[in-house]
Amino acid sequence: MPEQPSRFMQMALDAAASVRGATSPNPWVGAVAVHNGNVVSVGATNPPPGPHAEAAALAGLPAGAGSELYVTLEPCAPFPGKRTRPCAEAIIEAGIRRVVVALEDPHPGVRGQGIAMLRAAGIEVEIGDGRAEATALLRPYLKHRQTGLPYVIAKFAASLDGRTATASGDSKWITGEAARARGHEQRAWVDAVMVGSGTVLADDPELTARRDGIVLPRQPARIVLDARGRVSPGARLFAAPGKVIVATSTAAPGPWKQALAATGAQVVECEATADGLNLDQLLHAVGERGVMSIWAEGGATLLGSLFDGHHADEVWAFIAPVVIGGTGPGAVAGRGASLISEASRLEHTVIETIGADVLVRGYTTYWRP
Ligand SMILES: NC(=O)c1ccc[n+]([C@@H]2O[C@H](COP(=O)([O-])OP(=O)(O)OC[C@H]3O[C@@H](n4cnc5c(N)ncnc54)[C@H](OP(=O)(O)O)[C@@H]3O)[C@@H](O)[C@H]2O)c1
Repeated sequence: MPEQPSRFMQMALDAAASVRGATSPNPWVGAVAVHNGNVVSVGATNPPPGPHAEAAALAGLPAGAGSELYVTLEPCAPFPGKRTRPCAEAIIEAGIRRVVVALEDPHPGVRGQGIAMLRAAGIEVEIGDGRAEATALLRPYLKHRQTGLPYVIAKFAASLDGRTATASGDSKWITGEAARARGHEQRAWVDAVMVGSGTVLADDPELTARRDGIVLPRQPARIVLDARGRVSPGARLFAAPGKVIVATSTAAPGPWKQALAATGAQVVECEATADGLNLDQLLHAVGERGVMSIWAEGGATLLGSLFDGHHADEVWAFIAPVVIGGTGPGAVAGRGASLISEASRLEHTVIETIGADVLVRGYTTYWRP
C-alpha cells in the first residue's frame, strides 16, 4: 500500500480539489503554510490571471517567519512569457524554511527548476508526500502537458445488459435521478462536453452545467462532431450560454458552416475518414485551444471511436438494475476488441452505489501519467 499523504498535504490536496477545473489552462494546486506545527493559511490556485496557490497561502504569513509550505505541485520558476510572479521567488522572499512538494511540474518552463531555485536558496525541499493523490487529481493537466491532447472521460448510462435504449429507441430514463445528477455535476469542472451528431439529432440536449436546475456561471465548451452538416443551427445547444465548437469536414455545406458561425459557434475542419472525423486531429486542435479535459457523453458511435483510437482515458459507467434485452444499442460501438485480452480493462476501479444504480469508474491504460 502506498503511504497516505501527511495531514498537511491532505489539506493542500483538498484545497486543490476545491478549485479543480476552475483554473484552466493552469493546473489546480493547493498550498498550506504551517508554523510551529500549526496551519497558518491555506491557498488554492485562482482562475487566471489571479494568484497561484503558493502566493495565496503566503499572503497570510509574516515575512521571515521560518515556516513550512506544503504544496501539491512544484512551485513555478521564471520562464519567458510568464504572467504571474514565479512562486519559487515568492517562497524564498517569504523566508520559508522547508517546502514539501507532492509532484514535480512537467511544464517545460518549470520541470525541476522551481525545486532547484528553492534548494539553491538554502530551503529544505522534500518531494513525494501525496504523490499518488496529486497525480490522480491532476491527470487532465498532466496528459495535456505531456501529449498536447485533452484528457477524455467517457461517460455512459446503461442497463445491466449493457444497453442504452430499447430496440424502438426509447431511452428515458435508464438510471435514476441521483445518478443523472452525479453525471451532471461533472460538467461543472471539465473544459468541454463532447457528443456526436446522432445524440444532438435524437435528444436536442443543451449540455449545460446546472446545479438544482440553475445554470452555473462557468460553462464547459460544447463540442459536437458532425461531418456532414446534419445538426440544425437552431439546436438548443447553440442558444445555451458557453462556447460551442463544431467539428466538421471540408465536404460539409458552406452555408451550413456560415449559419453555425452566425450563432457564435467555432467551426473546426478535420479530415473525414471511413470511421468519421479524424479524432487525433480534432483532439490536437482543441488541445491547442487550451481544452485540458473532455467529458464525452456519447452516443455509442462516438464512444466507440474514442476507444478504438485509444483516446478515452477514464470511464464513468452508470449501470441501472434493469434488463432491456432485444436489439437495443449497446453503450460503446466502434470496431471494438477481437479478443477479450485486447479489451480495455480499467485499473484503479472505484464502485459506488447511487440510489438504485451503480457507478463503475476507472482509468484505461492507453495513457498513464
Ligand atoms: N445512455 C447514454 O449514456 C447515452 C448518451 C448519449 C446518447 N445516447 C443515445 O445515443 C443515441 C445516439 O448515438 P449514436 O451512436 O447514434 O450517435 P453519436 O455517437 O451521438 O453520433 C455519431 C455521429 O457522430 C458523427 N461523427 C463524426 N465523426 C465521428 C467519429 N470520429 N466518431 C464517431 N462519430 C463521429 C457521425 O455523424 P456525421 O456523419 O453526422 O458526422 C456519427 O454518425 C441517441 O439515441 C441518444 O439518446 C445515450
